[in-house]
Amino acid sequence: MQTGTGKTALITGASSGIGQELAKLFAQDGYNLILVGRSEDKLDRLSEVFKANYGTQYITIINKDLSKEDIAIELYDEVKAKGIQVDVLVNDAGVSTYGKFATETNWERERELVHLNILTTTLMTKLFLKDMVERNDGKILQLASLVAITPFPLMAVYAATKAYIWNLTQSLNNELKGTNVTITALMPNATDTNFFREAGAPELIVEDMTDKPDMVARDGYRALMRGEAKVVPGGFVNKAQEVMAYLTPQEGLAAMMRKLLTPKYDEDGEEETSPWAIGLGIAVAAVAGYALVRFLNHVSPEDKARFRAQVADFGDSIANSTTNALSSVAHSVAGEYLGLKADVEGAEEELA
Ligand SMILES: NC(=O)c1ccc[n+]([C@@H]2O[C@H](COP(=O)([O-])OP(=O)(O)OC[C@H]3O[C@@H](n4cnc5c(N)ncnc54)[C@H](OP(=O)(O)O)[C@@H]3O)[C@@H](O)[C@H]2O)c1
Repeated sequence: MQTGTGKTALITGASSGIGQELAKLFAQDGYNLILVGRSEDKLDRLSEVFKANYGTQYITIINKDLSKEDIAIELYDEVKAKGIQVDVLVNDAGVSTYGKFATETNWERERELVHLNILTTTLMTKLFLKDMVERNDGKILQLASLVAITPFPLMAVYAATKAYIWNLTQSLNNELKGTNVTITALMPNATDTNFFREAGAPELIVEDMTDKPDMVARDGYRALMRGEAKVVPGGFVNKAQEVMAYLTPQEGLAAMMRKLLTPKYDEDGEEETSPWAIGLGIAVAAVAGYALVRFLNHVSPEDKARFRAQVADFGDSIANSTTNALSSVAHSVAGEYLGLKADVEGAEEELA
């Protein structure tokens, strides 16, 4: 049983998925916890488990809907009134909607989404970061996403909010240089949580390719503790996807990402037979991206910028043909990719 560190981690979205797995890691390491979410019953149960399994000394449950106006101030004041110092802040709570922006999604839900994913996260960061900077000590983990750097049709507003978080985090990272305060962006690929159901999506093709939330949390936690600016959790396939997102023409990328969010079954209940773009796109991303990661690790930032500009020019001219090419690859390639991904990640786990 772990004895306490005396430090406190505040985790929003601790009641399920990635946030729950992160909370478990803090509990295992002896942190006191402030668990925030709307599902008080789930948070209470989690608290009992952490106390019993890891000897967590102090757990505070705060039941709040973080999509409401000025809720971050209310939460901050409540924590201060309890006399608790937050040493680590994890801004995990986040949601999406699913469907075409113009005709299918609901503005009220999108407004709440923007409020939660952007306004609350930004204000939470501002309030707690100020205290951390004054103490010259503290850590923040921001849940961004790999879709922060790609178009994501059918989850357009969601991806835009993650792009905001990603950008904000990188700027703050620079502003914090020279202090003992760090801020880390966690950029998961699709992860096996309640996320897609909560967004109101039917079963999607992407759900055949999800990562495990405990792996995502473990890699995020490690990067947070090391004070890294960002982390793409998982194996080289995910890291290669990051590089390809910067290099692939946006139009082709959007087509590929759209396919990932296609329902797995059509209206007659038949399994979708044409997730072509995914297979080739990601398989190409995996192989080419790996080579590029190695290449880019050995060139200067100026050369990287030049290289990206050249690729963008080239990309514009081939965007249409790329989209068409992606759209003509057979289903079997996706199967090959999944096999490859499993093999690679299995091998990596063995090596780890
Ligand atoms: N799953 C993925 O594919 C994926 C990929 C990349 C990034 N992410 C990001 O990872 C984070 C966690 O998502 P997840 O995948 O773990 O999904 P999840 O299992 O649905 O968890 C979402 C968490 O956010 C909390 N939450 C949602 N709305 C809230 C609100 N209005 N007020 C307070 N808390 C709220 C939920 O708690 P309550 O319901 O108790 O309020 C829950 O604990 C999100 O920021 C998401 O954008 C997810």
